Amino acid sequence: MNHDSQDDAADTNDPVGHPAESEASMLHHRRIRSFVTRAGRVSVGQQRAIDELGPRYVVPYAPQLADWDALFGRQAPRVLEIGFGMGATTAEIAATRPGDDFIGVEVHEPGVGALLKLIGERGLGNIRILQHDAVEVLEHMIAPESLDGVHIYFPDPWHKSRHHKRRLIQPKFVALLVSRMRPRGYIHLATDWQNYAEQMLEVLAAEPALENTADGYAPRPEFRPVTKFEQRGLRLGHGVWDLMFRRR
Ligand SMILES: C[S@@+](CC[C@H](N)C(=O)[O-])C[C@H]1O[C@@H](n2cnc3c(N)ncnc32)[C@H](O)[C@@H]1O
Repeated sequence: MNHDSQDDAADTNDPVGHPAESEASMLHHRRIRSFVTRAGRVSVGQQRAIDELGPRYVVPYAPQLADWDALFGRQAPRVLEIGFGMGATTAEIAATRPGDDFIGVEVHEPGVGALLKLIGERGLGNIRILQHDAVEVLEHMIAPESLDGVHIYFPDPWHKSRHHKRRLIQPKFVALLVSRMRPRGYIHLATDWQNYAEQMLEVLAAEPALENTADGYAPRPEFRPVTKFEQRGLRLGHGVWDLMFRRR
């Protein structure tokens, strides 16, 4: 995901105080969101995966609790991943942890198609996808104390200070996440943006229901693969920060 285009998109799409905005669209935008809706091109292969595998693996959004045991067809430790992008990391982790179930949430349609394609190619039965704002998914579809883990990898950093309010990792959002985690459940974050890493550490450390498993930043756990993007960054000398906290 191109971080700069994200900031630019917010500059042009920011609805606040726009006089020509209709009431319906004002209501829709009232909440500050951590993403901008981009009209991404869905490839032929992604579209085929959406058509063929979507009905089985995509869970339609509805503002009510979902029966995840029924949706996965079993009872297993459950991990929520927010903003899986093109899904490469999600598929890799799901393949190496077949005993766990993964709920992937992403708003970007080509990403949903890309992950469905990987599910088909690798025969992964332990992933379900929701194409919707993760905040609303957490609020309505995930029961309190039901998640064993939460993954958020390279969330949009929103570089400009006036956009920091759009960052996902904020005290209120973390409190919502924690309410959906089981005691001893973990939250694993990674970012390549130092200023956001510092914010993550500050926000998570200030949440009384969480404890840090490391002294500050954590080593990258073996189950998180290094992405191509990350590899290039590391070669260029850029940093990556992992955080691993547990619910008390
Ligand atoms: C910078 S990308 C990182 C993608 C991927 N995790 C990776 O490591 O390559 C962040 C992703 O989070 C998604 N996203 C941001 N806010 C979201 C939200 N509230 N709900 C669902 N997805 C969200 C964006 O659409 C975007 O694809």
